[in-house]
Amino acid sequence: MDKRPIGVFDSGVGGLTAIKELKAILPHEDMVYFGDTARVPYGTRSDETVTRYTQQCIRFLLSRDVKLIVVACGTASAVALPRIADSLPVPVMGVVPSGVAAAVTATRSDHIGVIGTAAAIRSRAYEYAIHGHSDTVRVSATACPLFVPLAEEGWGEGEIAHLTAEAYLAQLREESPDVLILGCTHYPLLEGTIGDVMGTGVTLINPAKQTALDAKKYLEDGGGLSEKDTPGEILYYVSDTGEGFRRIARWFLGETVSVQASVDIESY
Ligand code: DGL
Repeated sequence: MDKRPIGVFDSGVGGLTAIKELKAILPHEDMVYFGDTARVPYGTRSDETVTRYTQQCIRFLLSRDVKLIVVACGTASAVALPRIADSLPVPVMGVVPSGVAAAVTATRSDHIGVIGTAAAIRSRAYEYAIHGHSDTVRVSATACPLFVPLAEEGWGEGEIAHLTAEAYLAQLREESPDVLILGCTHYPLLEGTIGDVMGTGVTLINPAKQTALDAKKYLEDGGGLSEKDTPGEILYYVSDTGEGFRRIARWFLGETVSVQASVDIESY
């Protein structure tokens, strides 16, 4: 039994898609969420910058005495984790392996689409992980950078989101994978729009779902569940104003969240 919280971070509101799944699957766990709202987006930045930001987010969560860190950011998982995973004092899980495992199980045509930020797609991390399961699976990958500000703005649905998705996904739709990984944790906030544009024949994979299941299994196997029988408490931190963050959290999680404090993340 381990009463310490699970740490979760993202560049902004995207990691709330992981919080939603983690809450459903591990309802008694305490969690600490950090949204790096002062520096979002990560996906347009260099590998070095994404790695530095990721290290700082991890240091902040370690200062809150977490037992496990879920990197609820496709970009940080794809770009930074392979560089730093070996040097960390607590277990750290990214969203790439879990999302890929779910996609490989779901595909019937052995053709998987991946969408993510420019940095995540450039890293080819999803592609390598898919080929780690099977080198015969075809992968079609596309970066969709504007989905992140749309999600941060709460504009995941409606005409602008739809037109943006049409522009980004036209080529992918022609290549017609039967499964599409939402390789950035912001993208489930546009799931309805992406699903409409891709059509009903395409199964959308939200990696946060499998990541939450994998986190549960990891804690169960290692005797690390909290064993509380009351609902877990989630503390939210951001690095800038929490205004937009609270608005999206209310809409997406269906509850009012209070942000504990604005963290000076550059000092970590
Ligand atoms: N939600 C993050 C991801 O999964 C970051 C997006 C961004 O900040 O560009 O990639």
